This record gives sequence, structure tokens and C-alpha cells, in this order.
Amino acid sequence: MRIPEETVEKIRQESNILDIVSQYVQLKKKGQNHFAFCPFHEERTPSFSVREEKQLYHCFSCGRGGNVFSFLMEMEGLSFPESVIKTAELANISLDPSLLNAAAHARPKEDSEKGRLIRIHEQAKEFYHHILMHTKIGEEALAYLLNRGLKKETIESFEIGFAPEQRTLLKQFFLEKKEFEDSTLRDSGLFTEREDGDWNDRFFGRIMFPLKDHQGNTVAFSGRILNSEENSYAPKYLNSPETELFNKRKLLFHFDGARPSIRKEKEVYLFEGFMDVISSFQAGIPNALATMGTSLTTEHVQQLGKITDHVILSFDGDDAGKEAIKRAGDFLEKETAFSIEVVQFPEKMDPDDFIRKRGEEAYKEFTAHSRLTFFGFLMDYHRKDRNLHNDSQRIDYIDTVLHEMTKVPSAIEREVYFQQLTEEFHLPIETLKDQFQSIYLAFRKRQTSERKERRQEQQTSQAPVQITVRKQTTVSSVERAERQLLNRLFHFEEARSHLKVHYPDFHFFTEDHHLVHVLFDQYQQETAGEVQGFIEYLNESSLKEKVVEIEWQTYGEEYTNQELDDCVRVIQKQQWITELEDKKQAIKRASKSGDSDLQQQLLMEIVSLNRLLKSP
Ligand code: CTP
Ligand code: MN
Repeated sequence: MRIPEETVEKIRQESNILDIVSQYVQLKKKGQNHFAFCPFHEERTPSFSVREEKQLYHCFSCGRGGNVFSFLMEMEGLSFPESVIKTAELANISLDPSLLNAAAHARPKEDSEKGRLIRIHEQAKEFYHHILMHTKIGEEALAYLLNRGLKKETIESFEIGFAPEQRTLLKQFFLEKKEFEDSTLRDSGLFTEREDGDWNDRFFGRIMFPLKDHQGNTVAFSGRILNSEENSYAPKYLNSPETELFNKRKLLFHFDGARPSIRKEKEVYLFEGFMDVISSFQAGIPNALATMGTSLTTEHVQQLGKITDHVILSFDGDDAGKEAIKRAGDFLEKETAFSIEVVQFPEKMDPDDFIRKRGEEAYKEFTAHSRLTFFGFLMDYHRKDRNLHNDSQRIDYIDTVLHEMTKVPSAIEREVYFQQLTEEFHLPIETLKDQFQSIYLAFRKRQTSERKERRQEQQTSQAPVQITVRKQTTVSSVERAERQLLNRLFHFEEARSHLKVHYPDFHFFTEDHHLVHVLFDQYQQETAGEVQGFIEYLNESSLKEKVVEIEWQTYGEEYTNQELDDCVRVIQKQQWITELEDKKQAIKRASKSGDSDLQQQLLMEIVSLNRLLKSP
């Protein structure tokens, strides 16, 4: 796929790197830059930064850098044309439909096992979707979904499908296509082995929900049984087994689709079931995700942390749901600094039930206005199974709640809860506060010693934290001069001719800078384009990063020839010093071997180099 240069240029002009990057990481403005934790490596202090005026990003720690396209290439593992199209999508720039088509076909390009497995899933998805939407055997399933209140567009948008009762349809479909080896098909997880060694479709009689990875590739399915009464022995939902593509500890349902709205709203709803995500999306709340029937894991939280720090736990209103909220909330509180809120649906409803019973408007109203803080939820949660008219159970309840309160960092928030407890239990507020104080001190002490232990453990096990930090070399004056000179050459035609005319033999001292200079010359001759285009022109990422480093610095809008001459001088000087060192070595060797002609020759060269170095 080739995208016309004008289109690339247009997309570059109309998009803003800040908007795109901030859909992936949380940027905080500091001076001219926006900083964030680098999404490309683990770190404890933010060294990833974006400079809007230059439309570039750069990580001071790992050295990665580039423009908006390189960011998406690296972040999403895209090719250049794919990254251009993704940029247009994220920036809401409309594109020629033929391009979009080409992009859709170009997607799982790689001819690797993984690429093949993705293609199998994409094709199976289309197969199941077609059966649901356009065939007689799909009619009953489609009627079921419509009857559940799903609109056709929603079904289309989530690409829901149907796997009919016949157990060999998908197998037949793939065998006839002859595109994949049997072994690859069997590795896909879409089939099950029979006792006689043959194999069948894994999914049958189920509504098929494609599960997508964070790039939007279909990597697995979850199938909901259509006739649950008749098949009461079969599980309601069946997921693909874990494969090279699919890991439930990592996958969050609809992450790819919901990411922009999560970024925009700065918060995410977490649901128990993916049907809730789909219903909620249809009801106009798209910033929602669900795990695939598992508890939250560290991997999930890491993914989430890249795009938000505010989670609204909205699990089912039944007891199991309450337990799940408690577990997820405790986990988030321990592992993250997320702010946590809770929405509890009444009468044991899940979000999907609520929408169907009370309508979309009521749903929006409820999720927005019936939120509890996590602590508020806990106050409620601990009432369950306790009879508060009984003295000892009441005392136990208050004690438990005060223990939970140690995790509330805000003194103002705590004050509110003290008030509530005072009012409800007619206890003097001072008594509550005294009690809390002693619990809190004990808690802090335990925390400190635990932390100490953990530190010691880490030291003894020497757990190597994966931090890829490039060696922080100090930038020498030559490098500084070279960067400045290159920066000027990038931006000013006149600077380029000044160098050519006055220093025809000029050569950058640093190898990378020399290469950048040569390639920029070549790029200029071919396209006469700007630096942004040059970044794309370079193939090697280390060179791209060099260019970003050079571009990063701001040198003022005007330059003088004096400035160029000064830079050249610093660079040449370094050149001469190095040459001088070389010649001194050579002359030593010559004197050892007794080559007096060479000695004479070298001596003259050394003298003239010395003269050059002393000249003003
Ligand atoms: N789940 C599962 N296996 C089951 C039941 C549930 O893996 N036998 C997982 C699914 O990922 C499902 C989630 O748990 O999305 C929530 O289950 P449940 O609340 O039973 O599903 P609902 O979303 O309410 O589905 P429906 O409304 O279609 O009954
Ligand atoms: Mn449900």
C-alpha cells in the first residue's frame, strides 16, 4: 500500500501529536514540554516528553523518539502506511475510502505463525458474522439478540456472529479454502480433538463474540449458548483456550474500541460481563471494559494505567458482585494510585439488565449520580452479615470500618465519615478519632516494616527490574556544535549553501551526525521536504532518534553566518586534534621502522596541523 505524499503531508499538518499521544499516556505540562511515564519502558520518574511546537516526542531515558507516525508505529506495532491511517482515524481526519480499504486488507501482514493465527481468527469472525446476519440458520440467534434490545448497528459494530449446531462448518470452510495448514488450524484453538484423532469445531450452537487485542486484531472468541434451557449442562459462556494470541490475564474486552473515549472522559467503567460493555456502548457510555470472567490482574491494571487513573467498578448488584467489587477495590488500592468509585445497581441487576428495564436515560443518570467512593461502598459492605442491634457486632462493625479508614488518604474525606458514624451510632466524635488514631499508628508501623522487608527481599533476590536506560553520556562541546549546525541546516536553505561554498570539504566528526548529514542531503535532492518528512524518510530508528534529538533543541528563529562558522570551527578543531593524535602515533611507528621519508612527511603535516589549531 502506498499513500500519496500529499495525503501524508495533510494528515501530518492536521493532526496534533499531543492529542494522539495523550490517548495512550497521561501527559502533564511542564514548561515547553509535556511529560509522562514512557510507554516504551518501565520507569519510576517520567522522562518521556512531547513538544507540541515541534510535533515530536522524545524519551530522555530510553532514547526513543520521533513524530506522530513513529509513535504509533512503535506503540501499536504498525507499518508506516498503517500508522498514517491510524493517525487520521484518531484525529478524525476523513480519508479516501479506497485507502481505508487498502488498510483493512493490509492489516495482518506478517507471514509469521502469529500473523496466520490472526488471519484465521479474522476469517472465522467474518464467517460467523455472515451466518448470523444473512443466513437462515442464523435467524434464531439474530432474533434472540434483537429481542435482547441490541440494534443491528451494534451487532455490526462488535461483529457478533453465530456458530450453528453442525460441528464441522468452520472446519469445512477452512479446508475448502486451502489457505492454512491443518496444524496451524489446530493451533488456533477454534477446534477440538475427537477421540478418533479427527477434529471438530469447538464452538457450536453459540452466539460468537470476537475478542480483540489492543490493536483490534481478533485473537479469540467467547460463545454464548443460544438455548440455555435445553443445554443446562453446558456452560453459558465458553471462551477460546489460551493460545499464543489470547491470554485472559491481559485481555480487556473492547480495550481497542474504548481507548479514545476512556482518554477523553478520563475514567473507565469496569463491568463483570462483556454483554454489559456492549449494552452500555449502545446506550451512549462507551468508556467501559470487562475482563473475560476473571478477577483483575496486574497485567490488566498495567494496561489501564497507560490511559487512565480513575476506575468505576460497576459489577452486578448481587452478592457475588459485591464480593467482586470488594476484591477488585482492595486490589486496585494496594497496587495502584487509581481513584476508585463504585456504582451498585439495585435489585441484583447488572448494567445490561438496568438498561433494558429502565432505559438509556435512566442508566446515564444513575451511573453519573449514584456513585459511591470505595470507602462508602465498604461502609455498606461490612453491614452485611452483621446485626447492628447487637452490641458486640456493632462494636465489631465500627472497629472494622475504622480499620478500612486507614486507607482513606484525605483528612477531609475522613471527617465526613466520622460525622456519619457519630450520627448513626451516637458516639462522641473524639472517641472515634482517638480509636482511629491508635489503629492508624499500628497500621503505619506495620506498613513501614513490611516495606523494609520487601526492600530487603528485593536486595537479596536482586530482582533485576527491567529498566532499559541508555548510558547517560554527557554531551561534548563537539556534539553540541554538530547538533546546532545540523539543526540550522535542516531549517535554512541559505545555511546549507553557506556550508557548501565556504567549507567544501567539511565533514561531521561524529559518525551518526555525518550519516544524518549525508542522508539529509540526499533527501533534500529527492524531495526538498521538511524535517518531519525526513524522519519518515530514515529507515533506521537510531537515526530517527538522532534527528529528534537535534530537532528538540530550540536555537532561536534567526541564525547568523558567524554562528555557523563558530560551530564549524569547534568541529574542525576536534577533527584536527584527532588527526594530530593519529599522526603522532604514526610518527612513532615510522621512527621505529626507520622510515625517514615518512617521518619527514608526517612531521610536516604535524606542524601544519599545529598551526591550524593555534590560528584564531
Ligand atoms: N462467564 C464465563 N463462563 C460462564 C459464565 C460467565 O466465562 N459460564 C464470564 C463471561 O465473560 C461473562 C461474565 O463472566 O461475560 C459475566 O457473566 P454473567 O453475569 O453470567 O453474564 P451476563 O453478562 O449477565 O450475560 P447474559 O446477560 O447474557 O446472561
Ligand atoms: Mn446479564
